Amino acid sequence: MHRNRDLNVLGIESTAHTLGIGVFSKNIKSNELDMFKPSQRGFIPRELADHHANIFADVLDRALNKANITLKDVDLIAVSQGPGIGAPLSFGVSMAKFLAKLYKKEIVGVNHPLAHIKIGEYDTGLKHPLVVYVSGGNTQILYETKPFIYKIMGETLDMGIGNLFDSFARKAGLEKPHGSELEKIAKKGKYIELPYYVKGMNISYSGLYTAAIKALKAHPLEDVVYSLMETAFAMTVEVAERALHVVKAKAVLVCGGVAQNKRLQQMLKEMAEENGIEFGVARDEFNRDNGAMIAYTGLLQYDIFGPMDINTLIPLPNYRIDKIKDVLM
Ligand code: ATP
Ligand code: FE2
Repeated sequence: MHRNRDLNVLGIESTAHTLGIGVFSKNIKSNELDMFKPSQRGFIPRELADHHANIFADVLDRALNKANITLKDVDLIAVSQGPGIGAPLSFGVSMAKFLAKLYKKEIVGVNHPLAHIKIGEYDTGLKHPLVVYVSGGNTQILYETKPFIYKIMGETLDMGIGNLFDSFARKAGLEKPHGSELEKIAKKGKYIELPYYVKGMNISYSGLYTAAIKALKAHPLEDVVYSLMETAFAMTVEVAERALHVVKAKAVLVCGGVAQNKRLQQMLKEMAEENGIEFGVARDEFNRDNGAMIAYTGLLQYDIFGPMDINTLIPLPNYRIDKIKDVLM
């Protein structure tokens, strides 16, 4: 499948709360990570970078040992280039460039959402799916028109679906990690009506957010949580189905942090079945931030576009998936 199938690729992920380092060579050899645990003050960019700096050597050691290689055996270094939070992102890119220079290795910068998609295709075996990308900061319906070139079919006009859940959970005084906590609570709830906003293939979650906060005064928490999630997912699935009819994809893949939600998976699976197409979701390990997805996608990218110039490779905090063309071509 790959021209450079035998290369040992080291992947480094540091765009947000997680430092992940993984090795790919023919298959995934290791995928080690360490996630920053926020204090009461939440995520402070500087503290994320400090965390990654403190544990970098340890995570790197674990990733190499598990893969049974040393840095000398690495052929290619792949680093997550964005989007992300300035300080931790910059730390990871600096470390990747330092290692590449010191050990005279080639280097590639990888788009983070693209890596979630590519590892999703790898883990599920799906070919050319319509992609539902649902993370903290994003909700996007994506379709690959040429290798690595994505058309955004639809997206959120305001907050990402994960941020919708996290902001609501903070207001409701819930414990972290918010996503899985809400998923548990939702199981006990029943439906109350909340506003639903879909325009063409785009979505807006902010009215839903405001209404859900207000509903907390009049309804039990579990009913509000259940209805908030059902409504947000129904909106997301509706725009995905609309996009599906436009591109006529034969499969749908969900990825990103929120893709770990079982109810969303079930709703998308039912939608796919109704349309006679396949549905897939990668294992949770790959929907969380991780280094193996960066290594794997780095190899695919290297196959098509070759190495990048280390002197012009810089962190791109606003690296949207539809900007890949500008960076690589
Ligand atoms: P981005 O990739 O846009 O920068 P991020 O890094 O903040 O976003 P991810 O790490 O991909 O996001 O995902 C984290 C989000 O996923 C959080 O908003 C979290 O609440 C949500 N999440 C995690 N597990 C679940 C779940 N079981 N149900 C719903 N949401 C979940
Ligand atoms: Fe992510």
